[in-house]
Amino acid sequence: MEPKNAEEPFLPTADPRRAEKVAAVKKVKAVCKWIPLLAIFAVFVVYQTFSPSHSGLPGDSQNQTITLEVQATNFGRSIPSTLFGIFFEEINHAGAGGLWAELISNRGFEAGGRSTPSIIDPWYPKGDDHDVMLSTEETSLFRRNPIALRISVLCGTASNPCPADGVGVVNPGYWGIDVRAGKFYTVTFWLRSDTSVDLAVKFISEDEQRTLAQQTLKVEKVNSSSWEKYSFRLEANDTDHQGKFALTTAVKGSIWLDQVSAFPEETYKGHGYRTGLAQMLEDLKPAFIRFPGGCYVEGERLENAWRWRDTVGPWYERPGHLGDKWNYWSDDGLGYFEYLQLAEDLDTAPIWVFNNGISHQYSVTPRLIQPWVDDVLDGIEFARGPKTSKWGRVRAAMGHPEPFPLNHIAIGNEDCYRPWYRENYMAFYNAIRAAYPEIKLISNCDATNGPLDHPADYYDFHIYTNAYNLYSMAHQFDQKSRADGPKVFVSEYAVTGADSGTGSLLAAVAEGAFMIGLEINSDVVEMASYAPLFVHAKDRRWNPDCIVFDNWQQYGTPSYWVQQLFKDSNGARLLPFSLSSTWGSNPIVSVLRRHDKDLDADFVLIKAVNFGNDVVPVRITFNGLPADGILYTNSTIATLTSTHAMDENSFAQPKKITPQISPMEKPNSDLQVVLPPYSIVALDLRLADTPKGLDSTFTYLML
Ligand code: AHR
Repeated sequence: MEPKNAEEPFLPTADPRRAEKVAAVKKVKAVCKWIPLLAIFAVFVVYQTFSPSHSGLPGDSQNQTITLEVQATNFGRSIPSTLFGIFFEEINHAGAGGLWAELISNRGFEAGGRSTPSIIDPWYPKGDDHDVMLSTEETSLFRRNPIALRISVLCGTASNPCPADGVGVVNPGYWGIDVRAGKFYTVTFWLRSDTSVDLAVKFISEDEQRTLAQQTLKVEKVNSSSWEKYSFRLEANDTDHQGKFALTTAVKGSIWLDQVSAFPEETYKGHGYRTGLAQMLEDLKPAFIRFPGGCYVEGERLENAWRWRDTVGPWYERPGHLGDKWNYWSDDGLGYFEYLQLAEDLDTAPIWVFNNGISHQYSVTPRLIQPWVDDVLDGIEFARGPKTSKWGRVRAAMGHPEPFPLNHIAIGNEDCYRPWYRENYMAFYNAIRAAYPEIKLISNCDATNGPLDHPADYYDFHIYTNAYNLYSMAHQFDQKSRADGPKVFVSEYAVTGADSGTGSLLAAVAEGAFMIGLEINSDVVEMASYAPLFVHAKDRRWNPDCIVFDNWQQYGTPSYWVQQLFKDSNGARLLPFSLSSTWGSNPIVSVLRRHDKDLDADFVLIKAVNFGNDVVPVRITFNGLPADGILYTNSTIATLTSTHAMDENSFAQPKKITPQISPMEKPNSDLQVVLPPYSIVALDLRLADTPKGLDSTFTYLML
């Protein structure tokens, strides 16, 4: 039997409870009718709370105030001095064409392969086909990078004179060479020639019509089998951010060229790092630098993985390699030594992630792992060994006789579930622990929900997710067991996907909340770094990133500026506080007491994250501070926000979203601050001086 009305459920008429049942069903249906409307209302409420775009106007929140009560004299524990650092990965041309200031791309002509004829991108001929021809030959004087360029000059005869500005070869660098009038550049290359020849070595403009800098050379030594090194300073007398390098002649004959390098004379600490980019790192005051990857360390195929040994020694002897995960060639000018030197120059601790015989497509079996273990032990000796040791001698010859303080090492990257990780891990672990018991070792396996099945000093935790998830993960480590076991190294985290755009305020604010959670849980989380650090705007392989650059300019995404708001956290002490309100959800807050070395003064640093669409007023009280305990004239408030949560910085507006810092005014009564929608506010309150030699806690208790 079919129901009469499809709207009504079928119930047999003989059932005495039919009327009752029909009534009950009708009631349920009546409620159900409202479900879509209720759902729309719920979505609206959630949207109001978490909407990524907002009007910036206060809602009825105006009548509500949150009270933050700080126990100013009740010192909590210290945040580890290691907590916030940076993670440098060779991704997005972060190093080659980025932090490493080398201006010539594919300087040794090796990028196109080791067999000839090979591709020489981005080099190209200057001059027409009937005037000049380029080819590659395996005739380099450097054993490990065998390819050299041959320039066959066909013009230069009475019947075929060369053009006035000569013919030869051009290199446009990494999407242009930044040439600036008044600046000096160091140019180096190796050359041989079968004729006596006049050469012009120059920087030219993008359209190749202007000469920006020039040096002429007379090559007298006519010996087609003997290479000569040329190295000189080039002063630019004109500017073009999109300049090119060129080597030209008007004399017929053959020239061979190899290992062509051009560097700006000014580099960070004189060690080859691009000044503007390195300065942005220094400004973060990072506690450590993890390097050189990431998946870059593993590679897709093991034969293309980053191998420390191939990146040390004289730059012109390094073979370079194709980083096949992020799919570009690196001449490896920025090698293992240069990473260690960078750590020293930034006054930060190096953390080396080594390749443990695992790539994305291949794992070495335990029976064959020993040579890989030996290779890593050699690498540690390179960093830490005395200058008399085999590898310490190589380091010393590179200009650093003193050992580098390499005290943290990660055994692979994201490899826990790849074949043989655990077995091979133990081979590396045992060998390193036996030789260097003080080195802290980092496992790729996650111990968040239970102990590891192998020993480790740290376990690596990576998280890339949407903004709301990361914001919620401010509490990720609240429940983590405090029992003995490895500490947490959150070595990669960021908001990704639609919420991040190419570096949105929304993402940055969520990251700020997550970082506050790390501060609060820094008894178990001892190190953390945002990822990735750099992106060349012309080669975005991963999005978003902390610092965006091209060949001549750079800016920090809002995420970078959030990192800056945490630059004083390492080593500060947490102060207890309580938040009280009738508010649905409180801001995420941390309160620290930090010592400013430059001013020799103590500050209370309060950071509050508002991850919502309302304006949130906060009243702040201090327990244990006398009325004049804060020197407001020396105190500041920094606010990071924007009109829309999806706003970003850009080359056109590099500082649209940065912390806006203003001096504090002494309040008449309680201290009140307002957290704008989607914002991070940092109050840095200078405490009145305490007599020297007295613990400030004691002093305040005495007042
Ligand atoms: O940071 C980008 C990549 O994300 C890293 O290479 C890898 O470790 C992670 O999957």
